Amino acid sequence: MQTTDPIAQFKETQKQGWAPFIPLETHTTPTAARLVQHAGIAANQRVLDVACGTGVVAITAARTGARVTALDLTPQLLERARENARIAGVDIDWHEGDAEQLPFDDGAFDVVVSQFGHIFAPRPEVVVGEMLRVLKPAGTIAFSTWPPEFFVGRTFLLVSRYAPPPPPGVAPPPLWGDPNVIRERLGSRVKDMVFDRDRMLIPALSVAHHRTNFERTAGPVIKLVEVLAASDPERLSQLRREFDALTAEYFRDNLVRQDYLLTRATKV
Ligand SMILES: C[S@@+](CC[C@H](N)C(=O)[O-])C[C@H]1O[C@@H](n2cnc3c(N)ncnc32)[C@H](O)[C@@H]1O
Repeated sequence: MQTTDPIAQFKETQKQGWAPFIPLETHTTPTAARLVQHAGIAANQRVLDVACGTGVVAITAARTGARVTALDLTPQLLERARENARIAGVDIDWHEGDAEQLPFDDGAFDVVVSQFGHIFAPRPEVVVGEMLRVLKPAGTIAFSTWPPEFFVGRTFLLVSRYAPPPPPGVAPPPLWGDPNVIRERLGSRVKDMVFDRDRMLIPALSVAHHRTNFERTAGPVIKLVEVLAASDPERLSQLRREFDALTAEYFRDNLVRQDYLLTRATKV
């Protein structure tokens, strides 16, 4: 890492942190279909998937006959995305890059989507500016996000109490799950905003199984667990107890309920 810019350093940490995400694509696969449907993606549309990870939304969109471009920060996930596209038999234009600096022309896409992705770009006003810039007028922006009041949003809050504070100017990702914040962030640049909600169900054999999987795959948490294990094991135990108590509220029939928000709007 050759930079002293805190925002650039933050992104570099994100890039490394997200590399083990691949097993979680099983859970984001059904919700990808839900987002493609919510966005109304159809054959021949030019679609951009921002923070595409292993390509679950991009590939689902391409299977409708859309012409899809997808971008992510993390090269290991793009490698998996290429493999997924090869298996599915679809062509996608993959890019390694930053959602806050999209390497595409103004108005290049009919639809811009992001599933639990653009929320990790540190500066909401920058990423939303970019997503709307590359969208054509009357085009559709659509995304899935985690509300602060449900399981994943509450998990972010819990983890943030144990982690070092992010650099100034980095917004908490679950704010993207609040319709009022979304209205404010997209503002008068869009019209016809539509919200919906759905549920991701995560199989788990026990609350502790869920935590173990989470600690091995969730980008922002992996490093924190490593640091606490070395520096303050009692604090790590406390985090684990709190995480288990939170999970227990949402755990039933060997499933963890993760409710999420879907948003769609039309660029003015
Ligand atoms: C929770 S994963 C979601 C991946 C995928 N959209 C899905 O639904 O499976 C978050 C993704 O955001 C990506 N990401 C984080 N910050 C980013 C940024 N500034 N620009 C582009 N991608 C970013 C990560 O690399 C990771 O793939």
